[in-house]
Amino acid sequence: MNGEAATDGVASSTVARQRWRLLSRAVASYGQGKSVSVKELNSLTTVRQFCQFGLFDITEAAGARSADEFLEQTWQHVDHPEIRLQLYLRQRVPATACLTPAALGDGNNNSKTTNSSIIGSNQSGNGNNTGNICVWPSEEVLAHYVIAQAKAGELIPKEFDGDSGIRVCELGGGLTCLAGLAAGAALRPRLSHLLLTDGDQLACENAARQILTGGEDQTSRIEARVAQLAWEDADFDKHNYGRFHLVLCADCLFFRESHRALIRTLDKLLMLPTPAATGSNKHRGGLALICAPSRGRSVEDFARLAEAAGFDVGVSDNYDPRVSQTASAEQSASFVPDLHLPLMLRLTRR
Ligand SMILES: C[S@@+](CC[C@H](N)C(=O)[O-])C[C@H]1O[C@@H](n2cnc3c(N)ncnc32)[C@H](O)[C@@H]1O
Repeated sequence: MNGEAATDGVASSTVARQRWRLLSRAVASYGQGKSVSVKELNSLTTVRQFCQFGLFDITEAAGARSADEFLEQTWQHVDHPEIRLQLYLRQRVPATACLTPAALGDGNNNSKTTNSSIIGSNQSGNGNNTGNICVWPSEEVLAHYVIAQAKAGELIPKEFDGDSGIRVCELGGGLTCLAGLAAGAALRPRLSHLLLTDGDQLACENAARQILTGGEDQTSRIEARVAQLAWEDADFDKHNYGRFHLVLCADCLFFRESHRALIRTLDKLLMLPTPAATGSNKHRGGLALICAPSRGRSVEDFARLAEAAGFDVGVSDNYDPRVSQTASAEQSASFVPDLHLPLMLRLTRR
């Protein structure tokens, strides 16, 4: 992600050069109403070198790179190949909402990753363009994790379904909301509601394509919706989103100024505990799974705030054998655990 960098001298000077090349390209196109292709962005810089954990086999539809605005891909889970998600990814990101000079820091501060440093403001002023660039590794990992957990029967115990089926929501899901789709596919036929959200309008428009064109395989016989949901929305309660057994969120914790708003949103969306439940069977309400790299202890800071707000928070760096294996096999200077190893947070009410 922007703001990432290698830590040693040689690598960081290379990164700095790439950063400035990207800066000049971004500035040149900024404000001219041009668009910058995602491929071009990725090839311009190796700042974001570590791209995927290889948890899905990805194939492109024949002729997918035609003039069409969207790239069609199939993401097939490596361990559960019956889960095949049809994704549509916007091929060109509007330059005016893409990278601003501030996105690149000052060339020395390599860990500048606040909301204002990676920006592309949308009309509502919440959310940003980072979710339109690609499916980030934490989203891939979270999608894999919910599939693995659901298939092992450990994601949501059967007794918690209630009469009307499982309700799943994703926050800050970016252009595909892959984790939400994956949960939807893996939890069927127990799934009843799927709400995919992001604060950014463009991301939501893209995410809506997955729902609209996903067809039978992904979303039939469930109520599936995409909503532009900003965590700071003062009118949140008017939208009546309802409450959810499972809330997912990937790579959204480096927006430190939004931590409190995200925690309030989780509190409003997670299913409440069952009053009668006691002892070891006590159902503490919904579960939130949040996946994100530490990025300068942003995860740890978020966890502390969530605990103070009444949540039990478990943070793990060793939650899945495939993810751990890839992380330990990754020896390259481009794999910086602080930036690239997604941590898994489990939040339930205390
Ligand atoms: C780095 S992207 C991650 C997207 C996706 N989860 C992934 O990992 O590929 C962060 C996402 O969080 C969303 N976001 C940031 N701040 C937000 C806020 N205050 N309310 C709602 N969404 C927000 C952005 O719009 C963006 O899509």
